[in-house]
Amino acid sequence: MSAREPLYEGKAKIIFKGPEDGTLIQYFKDDATAFNAQKKDVITGKGVLNNHISEHIMLRLANAGITTHFIERMNDREQLIRALEIIPVEVVVRNVAAGSVCPRLGLTEGEPLPSTLIEFCLKDDALGDPIIAREHILAFGWASAAEFDVIVEQTNRINALLADIFAAIDLRLIDFKLEFGRLPDGTVILADEISPDNCRLWQVGTDEKMDKDRFRRDLGGLTEAYQEIARRLGLEVPQQG
Ligand code: TMP
Repeated sequence: MSAREPLYEGKAKIIFKGPEDGTLIQYFKDDATAFNAQKKDVITGKGVLNNHISEHIMLRLANAGITTHFIERMNDREQLIRALEIIPVEVVVRNVAAGSVCPRLGLTEGEPLPSTLIEFCLKDDALGDPIIAREHILAFGWASAAEFDVIVEQTNRINALLADIFAAIDLRLIDFKLEFGRLPDGTVILADEISPDNCRLWQVGTDEKMDKDRFRRDLGGLTEAYQEIARRLGLEVPQQG
């Protein structure tokens, strides 16, 4: 890893100062966590795969008119990104019932939802990222009403684009999580990463899990699933370890 001083270390990534003002470096670790880091492991090569997959997805979104923080991939572990003030809200989009919504609302995994759901969680590990409503976001000033509208509008567009990108490689986009941040001029843009760590992706036809649920649920074969996604996207990702 680089000897630079980290500005922020999260569960799967580290943020370093960038080479120029207004830039940062996003470093992808091999650490895997689940259930708010109660479950932890190191999965060799996961960070490299997520770096390459997220680069590809962010570029496809940018081509479709979504502004993102991604500037360029620097190497197998690092991306140059635009510095943002992160909005402390995790935006979860659900097209099909899976994961935490099932016990919460008494749904069966794989059940179609009446319509796509957008849920919001406060980005606060100490509190276990509690689910929150628009009212909390506005009342506590985590985002303004205008910013909230931009987030929802961008999120719906991103959902449609991602569903198409993954359908083209025989994967069903079940759900995913996004984060947004503000540029110094106040523009709200997409941040973080888009990878099988923060999307649920099921193989068309078999519903085999091709995402981080392989780790969360001890199914094994996480690296193989991520490599298969990279291969289907046409990416050449060096194998680690
Ligand atoms: P959940 O079913 O556990 O709430 O997760 C919904 C989606 O959000 C799933 O694709 C995984 C993703 N996610 C994250 O990326 N980070 C998180 O901290 C959590 C809880 C979920």
